[in-house]
Amino acid sequence: MNRTLTVRCAVPSAHNSENWEFRQYDIEIEGESSVMDVLKKLYQQKDHDIVFYSYCRQGLCAGCRVEVNGRRVLACQTLAESGIEIKPVLDD
Ligand code: FES
Repeated sequence: MNRTLTVRCAVPSAHNSENWEFRQYDIEIEGESSVMDVLKKLYQQKDHDIVFYSYCRQGLCAGCRVEVNGRRVLACQTLAESGIEIKPVLDD
């Protein structure tokens, strides 16, 4: 079943390369999708400024760490929900 999620995602600021800015998107997904799936879809369909890392997609490499609503998670292992805010982990 398709549904539309509204997500906010941090992207590098066009005005200052050391800052990030949030952009909001509506994205249609099929069934349950991980945060990684949503980031990929956003990149492919909506905004090429989105930056993310994807390698193992099995929870092994930890390279896809992001903050979702202020909590550190693995994007490939976390289900996406409408209303989430996604930003990179910058202090590792
Ligand atoms: S891509 Fe390796 S843990 Fe998510």
